[in-house]
Amino acid sequence: MVVVSGSNSGPLASQLAESLGWEHHVLETRRFPDTEGYTRIPSETIEAVRNEPVVLVSNTFPDSGIVETLLMLESLNDVRKGELHNLREIGPQTLPDVGKGIILAIPYFGYSRQDKRFKPGEAISARAIAHLLATKCDGMVVLDIHAPEVLQDLPVPISFTSAMPELSERLQGTVAPDFILSPDKGAIDRASQVASLIGCEFSYLEKTRIDAHTIVHKAKNLDVAGKKVAIVDDMIATGGTICRAAEALRNQGATQVHAACSHGLFTGGAIARLLRYVDGVHATGSLSNAVDSIPGGPALSRGVHEILDKLDLKPQ
Ligand code: R5P
Repeated sequence: MVVVSGSNSGPLASQLAESLGWEHHVLETRRFPDTEGYTRIPSETIEAVRNEPVVLVSNTFPDSGIVETLLMLESLNDVRKGELHNLREIGPQTLPDVGKGIILAIPYFGYSRQDKRFKPGEAISARAIAHLLATKCDGMVVLDIHAPEVLQDLPVPISFTSAMPELSERLQGTVAPDFILSPDKGAIDRASQVASLIGCEFSYLEKTRIDAHTIVHKAKNLDVAGKKVAIVDDMIATGGTICRAAEALRNQGATQVHAACSHGLFTGGAIARLLRYVDGVHATGSLSNAVDSIPGGPALSRGVHEILDKLDLKPQ
């Protein structure tokens, strides 16, 4: 089987291919002068993506990632259907349809933020994007999406996978924390999983978001005096959530504070800001970032195995 990627997930696709023991092919992607995207499956990759099921690793972030993902899926569908006719008459123009077998693995699902309709008339963006992608693949794997519920009822099977086991290993190996903190209720499942994998104490904060840059935590006594604490979240964007939680921890006597997440968006100088509050920042490479130290490939590999089972497609 084969793993392919475009412009935004090459290193993670390589990690996935290595975890699975499969080939990794990079698809051609470029931009026209007016910035519109172009994708192509190189001639030497056409046979590979027709011979066996194929996993496309691609982020739906930023917006250009959505378009690139859709275009690459379109090319994969055409090639697997054998629709190869082209104006230059290069190669065979048609081949037999090789059937289903396109899996989309999304390390960072962009547009997962708007997962509910808060006011009448709003688009539920996560659902809209997922349904669009589902029209062009046979199954999906999504890594550590904030609220998986929003992707229920898709017309294709989906596997949710998580890098928390690898995040736990990283924290245990470099920090050996005594205490794991979830900075809000939304991260409780992930952070408590990390605490139980490490075998340490756990608690959570209650957060209210005032706006994109301002959050407040409800005061809470945490038993962290003299302890090394790691704050675990699904994503870090501005860093505001982590900075406020780190302040609370320091005020209550934590000796070290670390931050760990799956998705390091790190907007507007967030890493520099974070390093004024925490002793270390750890993220996967789901998005390219300067603190990519947690392997994301094994989690994607678990998701791919699960979706292959659901689709009854066995690796050869
Ligand atoms: C939201 O609840 C997420 O889990 C994160 O806590 C949030 O997106 C982090 O954003 P920021 O770094 O801007 O506080």
